[in-house]
Amino acid sequence: MSSPTLRTVLFAMLASLFVSARCDNQSRKDVALFIFGDSLNDAGTNNYINTTESFRANFPPYGETFFHYPTGRFSDGRLMVDFIAEYANLPLIPPYLQMKEGEFMGGANFASGGAGALVGTHKGFVVDLKMQLKQLEQLEKKLRKEMGSEKAKRIIKEGVYLISIGSNDYSSYNPAQFQSISTEDYVGIVIGNITTVLKGIYEEGGRKFAMIGVGPLGCAPSSRASTRNGSCLVEANNLAKLHNVALTSALTKLETELQGFEYSYFDFYTTGGEIIQYPSKYGFKEGKTACCGSGPYRGNSTCGGRRGVKEYSLCRHPEKYVFFDAGHPSERANRQLAQLMWNGSLSAVRPRNLKALFKHEGA
Ligand SMILES: *[C@@H]1O[C@H](CO)[C@@H](O)[C@H](O)[C@H]1NC(C)=O
Ligand SMILES: *[C@@H]1O[C@H](CO)[C@@H](O)[C@H](O)[C@H]1NC(C)=O
Ligand SMILES: *[C@@H]1O[C@H](CO)[C@@H](O)[C@H](O)[C@H]1NC(C)=O
Ligand SMILES: *[C@@H]1O[C@H](CO)[C@@H](O)[C@H](O)[C@H]1NC(C)=O
Ligand SMILES: *[C@@H]1O[C@H](CO)[C@@H](O)[C@H](O)[C@H]1NC(C)=O
Ligand SMILES: *[C@@H]1O[C@H](CO)[C@@H](O)[C@H](O)[C@H]1NC(C)=O
Repeated sequence: MSSPTLRTVLFAMLASLFVSARCDNQSRKDVALFIFGDSLNDAGTNNYINTTESFRANFPPYGETFFHYPTGRFSDGRLMVDFIAEYANLPLIPPYLQMKEGEFMGGANFASGGAGALVGTHKGFVVDLKMQLKQLEQLEKKLRKEMGSEKAKRIIKEGVYLISIGSNDYSSYNPAQFQSISTEDYVGIVIGNITTVLKGIYEEGGRKFAMIGVGPLGCAPSSRASTRNGSCLVEANNLAKLHNVALTSALTKLETELQGFEYSYFDFYTTGGEIIQYPSKYGFKEGKTACCGSGPYRGNSTCGGRRGVKEYSLCRHPEKYVFFDAGHPSERANRQLAQLMWNGSLSAVRPRNLKALFKHEGA
């Protein structure tokens, strides 16, 4: 016979297990993930719009590693957002344009390869950031109809909004077209447009924002291919740096202006740059040349042979490469970056990491 004290203790332990399991399920059901931005986050949006193969990745060898079919993701496997969903105990978040009525499960992905903060960036071929916000508004209306406005409101309010945007505004930046304005002013216009969308999400009820900074654009294989000795393209990296400084100050400002606004900023420039510069430290063999593509550094975006050029090279082991194609990380690099975003220190993600952002109860 066990003593009453022991039975009491056992009962208390079982009860606490049950309570924590219930809490786990509760949070799983409630904290949704809403994904916005460009090809780093696009899980197949562009499969559903009228665009060209340049803005698509729904053909082999894209997707070969994990999904074993091309989903539209610009990688051999999963994206950073797929790993973030996993760490947050959510299922893979589907493209909004792929979702059927009543199919809401854990979030929606609005991101579109090639998209920028500016409406003019790849206009007609992508879903730009403002349109992505409009789609969030449509989704909110549908959720209110399906589950009632109380529940819909809670899902929107407690959700995390994960955004990668800016790279395409700078890679398609043509100084000649913006002759009368300085680089600083151009960055200001990009940041101004991002700020407008963040405020729009806030007005919809969103409070938790996870912003991915612009990475070291000049060190992508496509940029290296354009320099004489294969070094990083200094001009592109300078634009990225200017953007990130302006973005972090815009986020700080929003936090003071908007009641309850909370954010994480992922320093993709520093973390990505470190992996590219010291690939072997992170278990990669190659940080400069892409796994898939053609020309110097495989920096020509011909991966898959569907973008006007049939011939291209493909490596055997994408996990040994930081870049899968001329401009996008391999699944393995995405996993490492996502881990830094999730539970990295302040040198990678600030003022809080995504684990803390997801957990925090909010105001
Ligand atoms: C939590 O969810 C899992 C899977 O959805 C289910 O098997 C389990 O019974 C749930 N636990 C509780 C306490 O509701
Ligand atoms: C799709 O775009 C192409 C080229 O821009 C155009 O010719 C075609 O009519 C468009 N199709 C639809 C259904 O909008
Ligand atoms: C947004 O971008 C447009 C150019 O596409 C620009 O004219 C406008 O001033 C920008 N808005 C803000 C708030 O910066
Ligand atoms: C490559 O060229 C750039 C200027 O175009 C120069 O600054 C850099 O030092 C060179 N790097 C190497 C490794 O030669
Ligand atoms: C990419 O490769 C094709 C075919 O070899 C060539 O016509 C094109 O100029 C290349 N583009 C770049 C940017 O190198
Ligand atoms: C960070 O999170 C990842 C994914 O959940 C996990 O594998 C890793 O052990 C964590 N690292 C630390 C230092 O907690």
